Amino acid sequence: MKATILTLPGDGIGPEVMAQAQAVLEKIASRYGHEFVLHEGLIGGIAIDTAGDSFPEETRKLGEQADAILLAAVGGYKWDNPQAKDRPERGLLAMRKHFGLFANLRPVKTYPSLAQHVPLRPELLQGVDILFVRELTGGLYFGPRQEMGEGDEAYDTMLYTRGEVERVAHVAFRAAQGRRKKVSSVDKANVLASMRLWRSTVVKVAEDYPDVALDHVLVDACAMHLLTRPASFDVILAENMFGDILSDEASVFAGSLGMLPSASLGAGRFGLYEPVHGSAPDIAGQGKANPVGMLLSVAMMLRYSLELEAEAVALEAAVDAALAAGARTGDIARAGEAVISTAEFAQAVLANL
Ligand code: IPM
Ligand code: MN
Repeated sequence: MKATILTLPGDGIGPEVMAQAQAVLEKIASRYGHEFVLHEGLIGGIAIDTAGDSFPEETRKLGEQADAILLAAVGGYKWDNPQAKDRPERGLLAMRKHFGLFANLRPVKTYPSLAQHVPLRPELLQGVDILFVRELTGGLYFGPRQEMGEGDEAYDTMLYTRGEVERVAHVAFRAAQGRRKKVSSVDKANVLASMRLWRSTVVKVAEDYPDVALDHVLVDACAMHLLTRPASFDVILAENMFGDILSDEASVFAGSLGMLPSASLGAGRFGLYEPVHGSAPDIAGQGKANPVGMLLSVAMMLRYSLELEAEAVALEAAVDAALAAGARTGDIARAGEAVISTAEFAQAVLANL
């Protein structure tokens, strides 16, 4: 097949992990006889510096012409000014909104070869396989707000409409049907009006999926249950900010935040794929970054936007095999284990493809 992909390396460790994603895509293209046309664009801090906008029009246009977008990371100390009019993160949020990518899928699983690296008792990790479905274009991130300005007040608003909750809930229930048929909906319905709307809407949507079990978990309790009984969760459906926080927490089960991929989807096949980790400015440019989150995001792109399931499975298996054979970047290495670079890790994956 032929597909057009917009690559957005962004800031910090972004370009380093994106280079590995490209190497893997080239290999898959030649191995399976596909043509992937890659266009590179600007997003985030580097886009502010070179184009004066964290989400430049050129990037928007390139995205509109693409079948999928691959993004590495945005942000850095340089742009961390509370007074600034534009911020790297704004570019990412504007892009999610522009393309209507309301459902963010974040799978979390454990790797037997990394179990010793996880600061939880190994028996708790047995069978952990969670899919977060995070609402991505509503809630606190996009509600009415007031910046700090000259005054002493600033606020963000948690606002949801029934339609926004319905569409992301359908994504969660459909995903659960292909898994262990359980949805845990996270909210704070005991305190927040928006979360009472969330809960009652999810209850209604659940009527369409009698084969899927639904439970409701308050977000604070969920944060605790994730640590005490992680294997009991199947699909976790959460509003934007709760999903952001809980998925970082759950990344610990996989060994490192650097391991997690994500897919941001809307109504069609088009999607934005990015690792869950950030730009890690403290290790940028040193070849220390873990490329797994990025490479598994490529696999999700192959699966959801390009419908290349066999290629996605092959890439995931190649990553698993590299880890099982002992490939370790610093974030997943225990004392005494040999640490390899970002590029060496990707080489180990390529060798298994
Ligand atoms: C994520 C990130 C973003 C978010 C930031 C960079 C805007 O933390 O993708 O999880 O909060 O959504
Ligand atoms: Mn986050």
